[in-house]
Amino acid sequence: MANRGGFSSKLGFIMAAAGSAVGLGNIWGFPYEVGQGGGAAFVVIYLLFCFILCFPVMVTEIAIGRKSQKNAVGAFDYLGFKKWNIVGKMGILCGVLILSFYNVIAGWAFGYIFEMAVGNFDIANHFSEFIVDVFKVGAYGFVFMATTAYVVSKGISGGIEKAAKLLMPTLLFLIVSLVIYSLTLENAMAGVKFYLVPDFSELNGKVIYNAMGQAFFSLSLGMGALITYGSYVGKNDNIVSSAALITLTDVGIALIAGLMIFPLIGYMTEGAMTDVGRGPALIFVTLPQIFGTIGGTLGAVVGTTFFILLCFAALTSTVSLLEVPVSYIVDEKNIKRSKAVWLVAGLIYLIGIPSLLGNGYSEFFSNFITYVGAESATDFLSFVGHVANDTLLPLGGCLIAFFAGHVWKKANLDEELAQGAPGYKGSFIQKYLNFAVSYLSPIVLGTLFVLTVLGTFFGINLI
Ligand code: PHE
Repeated sequence: MANRGGFSSKLGFIMAAAGSAVGLGNIWGFPYEVGQGGGAAFVVIYLLFCFILCFPVMVTEIAIGRKSQKNAVGAFDYLGFKKWNIVGKMGILCGVLILSFYNVIAGWAFGYIFEMAVGNFDIANHFSEFIVDVFKVGAYGFVFMATTAYVVSKGISGGIEKAAKLLMPTLLFLIVSLVIYSLTLENAMAGVKFYLVPDFSELNGKVIYNAMGQAFFSLSLGMGALITYGSYVGKNDNIVSSAALITLTDVGIALIAGLMIFPLIGYMTEGAMTDVGRGPALIFVTLPQIFGTIGGTLGAVVGTTFFILLCFAALTSTVSLLEVPVSYIVDEKNIKRSKAVWLVAGLIYLIGIPSLLGNGYSEFFSNFITYVGAESATDFLSFVGHVANDTLLPLGGCLIAFFAGHVWKKANLDEELAQGAPGYKGSFIQKYLNFAVSYLSPIVLGTLFVLTVLGTFFGINLI
């Protein structure tokens, strides 16, 4: 077991897990989901999911990982429930799917660093041409995947933990600087209002499903990423308090990212807040326009800084996504880490090619599937996102909670959580977690999973 490696400290683990959580999901995904979901009402639902339903799943994943000291599949075997390792296998599949498209978007962000550095703000009007240039953005994605693989190949404390300890504080500094800047602009308050004053008439089933998917995706839950990271956690660390810090950091950074972007949109649209529902292109189109209005060297500096920040955030997430299949292969198939890393990274890069081509280059992948009852076709990248983020992650979360509550049993979960947390037994949080993993999370998540599948893929909207 000694050669598996591990985090060198509790802080190292928290940084790495928070690094996994904080990523494109917070800075690219969250603002566009808020924009499409009608603003503050989406934010409220998202927060409820994170704290009430997802937090217990996070605690459970870390506990399963630490107890077993195994990867997402091996963990279930170790605990004596081999049949349940299907949940881990589904998680690995999910991680592979997510990384395959995530890397494409990370490649765009990486490319934007250079565009901003040379002051090419006009790219806002040419985003669709940028992403259609598949050889260029494919090369950016290639570099990104190679960087991810390099970090993972260095192992847990020497690679993942070291990178997170450097990248996370830098990210926080950059993002807070940008928030301060954007709040000083004219009409910033229109953005703040859209973002923070809820209008619940905007709520519908779709907003709720998206908020659920976003919560899971953003917290890196439901696919064993935190089982895997949990397996490298020290026996004396307090899992519950670590999970609380990770959740707070992730949610905090998503909220701050919104506070950076919506005032900028308020400024640019002179308070009208048109354009906020633009979707995935939001930060790639709207932001360069804004950096352009700042103009000159300052615009280039702010723009370059922003996309460097985005790449940092993405890198600590891609690293955790790659670690899930890698640790499985290293543990179970006895392949050396260095070899496993490059093999898996190469494979996932190839799996990502349809997502790369489906943004206008290939007609087939750009209009890949038309869901029942939908007006228009969905591209491959979005399709994978719907399957993996919005469907498989909540399903995984539901099963993991159910597993802990009814199969592995609450007493065992409690036993693991009490290690490193002397006051845990008998506390309110223990009672809440027991209730949540046994009933609340499996029932609510299971129901929403069914509703999401019906609503998204079959056009049957029951709420
Ligand atoms: N949480 C990451 C983000 O918000 C994405 C991610 C999902 C990473 C699942 C690991 C596992 O960008």
